[in-house]
Amino acid sequence: MIDERAIDEALRQVEQLRAEALQAISAAENTSRLEEARIRFTGKKSVLTAVMQIMPRLRSNDERKTLGAAVNAAKVEIETALEDRRLQLGRRELEARLEAERVDVTLPGTPVQRGYQHPTLQTMRELIDIFRQMGYAVVEGPEVEWDLYNFQLLNFPPDHPARDLQDTFYVTDDMLLRTQTSPAQIRVMREQRPPIRVIVPGLVYRDEAEDATHLSEFFQIEGLAVDTNITLADLKGTLTEVVQRFFGRERGVRFRPHYFPFTEPSAEIDISCFACGGAGCRSCGGEGWLELGGAGMVHPIVLENGGVDPEVYSGFAFGLGPDRFTMMRGNITDLRLLRHGDVRFLEQFN
Ligand code: DAH
Repeated sequence: MIDERAIDEALRQVEQLRAEALQAISAAENTSRLEEARIRFTGKKSVLTAVMQIMPRLRSNDERKTLGAAVNAAKVEIETALEDRRLQLGRRELEARLEAERVDVTLPGTPVQRGYQHPTLQTMRELIDIFRQMGYAVVEGPEVEWDLYNFQLLNFPPDHPARDLQDTFYVTDDMLLRTQTSPAQIRVMREQRPPIRVIVPGLVYRDEAEDATHLSEFFQIEGLAVDTNITLADLKGTLTEVVQRFFGRERGVRFRPHYFPFTEPSAEIDISCFACGGAGCRSCGGEGWLELGGAGMVHPIVLENGGVDPEVYSGFAFGLGPDRFTMMRGNITDLRLLRHGDVRFLEQFN
C-alpha cells in the first residue's frame, strides 16, 4: 500500500485546503458564515483532519512528521485567521447594532398631558379649608338616601308642597337620590352630642330641566353648628366670613328672608354682583346680587328628630352651592359648561 507520491499529493491537498480556508474566512460576511467555515476546516470531522488518513500510506516517519507538521501549521494559521475575522466581524456587527438601535437623547420627549383639579373641585377644596380653619369637621352622607332622612325628618311631611321644588329620582318608594346634603344633619345629630360643627360636601340630584343656572346633578356643602346659645348673629358672622375669605373682603353679603321647612327663620345668602358691584346690571338681572345658597336657624322639630333637646340647644345650618361659587368667581355664564368635560373650557381654570 506504500505510495511514493502520496506525500506530495497530501502536501498539495493541505496547501489547497489552507488556501481555500483562508479564502472562505476572509469572504465570510457575518459570524454565522464564519462558524460554518470553522466547522468545515478545523472541526473533528473537518476536511483538514481527513487528510491525516493518508498516514498509513506514507513511506517513512519523516514523511509522516512532515505531513503532521504541515497539517498543524495549516490548522494554526486557519485558527488565527478565524479568530481575527471573528473579532473583526463581531466589532462590525456590534457597531451596526448600536447604529440601528441608537437613541437620540437630545430629542425632546413626548409631552405627558398633566391632569388638574376640576374648577368646582378646586372651589370645594378651598371652602373646606376655610371651614376647617374655623373649627368645622368634614363628614359625608350617602347619595342614595331614605325618604325619611331626605324629607320627613327634615320637616317635609309626605304631602308637603315644598317637596315639589325638590323632585328627584326614586330607587324605591322610600329610597331616593338625595336632593340635598341636609339629611346628613339628622345623621350627624344622631351620632354626636353637641357641641357640633360639621360640613358635609357632596353631590345631590334633582329632576330638573337643566338651564344656564340649574343642573340635575350638582354639588352642595352642608353646614351644621349646634351648641348652647347659638344665634342668628353667629350664622351671619360665619357665612359672611367664609364668603369674604373666598371672594375677597370687598364683596358684600346679604341675607334675604326665605322659606325652608327645616329652619326657622330661614334665609338665602346673596353676594354682590361681580360685574356691577351691586348697582344692578345684565349679569345679575338688574338685581345687583347673586344667590349662593340657603341657611337658617335649625327648626326645633329637626333638633328633636336628631335627638337634641331644643330647650337646651340651638343651631344654625346652611347649604352652599360650590358650582355657583365657581361660576361667579370664574365669570362662567352657563353652569352646564362645568359638567361637559370639555378640556378646552376646563383648562382655563388650571
Ligand atoms: N337644602 C337646601 C336646598 O338644597 C339648602 C339649605 C337651606 C340647607 C337652608 C340648609 C339650610 O342647611 O339651613 O335647597
